[in-house]
Amino acid sequence: MTHRKLKKEIMIGVVLLFLCVIISSLCFVILHFFQDKPNEKPLTEEQILVNKGITIKEKTNFIDEANSLLDKGYSPDEINQIYEYMSDQNIEQILANNYVDLSPFYQISNFDFSKIDRYLAYQSANGLEMKDAVTRVNLNLDEPFYQTVETITDPGSITVLVNKSHALPADYVPEDLVNIPSFPSLQIKDDAVDDFEKLLAAAKLDNVYIIPYSTYRSYDYQNRLYTNYLGRDPKEVVDTYSARPGHSEHQTGLALDVRSSSHWDNLTDADYEWMLNNSYKYGFIVRYPKNNSTITGYQEEPWHIRYIGVEHATKVHELGITYDEYYDLYLTKH
Ligand code: DAL
Ligand code: ZN
Repeated sequence: MTHRKLKKEIMIGVVLLFLCVIISSLCFVILHFFQDKPNEKPLTEEQILVNKGITIKEKTNFIDEANSLLDKGYSPDEINQIYEYMSDQNIEQILANNYVDLSPFYQISNFDFSKIDRYLAYQSANGLEMKDAVTRVNLNLDEPFYQTVETITDPGSITVLVNKSHALPADYVPEDLVNIPSFPSLQIKDDAVDDFEKLLAAAKLDNVYIIPYSTYRSYDYQNRLYTNYLGRDPKEVVDTYSARPGHSEHQTGLALDVRSSSHWDNLTDADYEWMLNNSYKYGFIVRYPKNNSTITGYQEEPWHIRYIGVEHATKVHELGITYDEYYDLYLTKH
């Protein structure tokens, strides 16, 4: 056999081998494609959602809800965010409505789906961060004061929120009013009295002499006060310093107006400073701090302190926010 012939036969062999490989691969693919697959089960609805990138939550009806959100146009990522951050109450409403872009709201704990249009309008009109717009709208601050008024259902709670949109029933009188031992002509709620005495004693040790001069006030008394002020100032001015009847914290027995011994109805700057820095240790907050009248509805009142208990007063102090905001953020179920 010549060298040239041998080379040719090797070439033919290689080509044949190559063809064999191609043909057997094709056969394998064709067989695999057409053979019965008795062992392969169809995917479950849950697996289909997982394949789309949805994290399955332990919740009754989750599969149906997730599918319904997909149908509305929410992406798997949006669905994951909704179940990560939104309350059940919000999810219920999201499911009952058409698609809405919820991305500005995912991590806002006090978000309430029913107010979404108000949040967007208030945020864009005021240039606030969305989280602040949410809190303010929840407090009805996108409306004139006193426009929406809810009647308080827990007037005896030490954390009760009383403001221009939360009113006490006219006939509410605390059941546990007691005389303040150091100032027996004045009454406050029993829950607050021991801590108030502690505050007085602690202040004294720092040479701060605090005298309470207006504590519990009935609805009728507040009504007379407010009406008297109307004889002196226009209503819009009175509303900056006096609560309308039913809207005063004094009716709860948890608020006190205090003065320094040298003043007849206010604290000295130094005593006010002491109050701002120390009252929380005894469960009290300065309820109407400066630069917050758009939230509280009142000008700064150094003399008006409110008992909410040490735990909450400490948090309000640390956060440096008004009690209205604190109440919406931490004490309201959304
Ligand atoms: N001065 C406060 C706001 C009140 O009247 O209760
Ligand atoms: Zn007051």
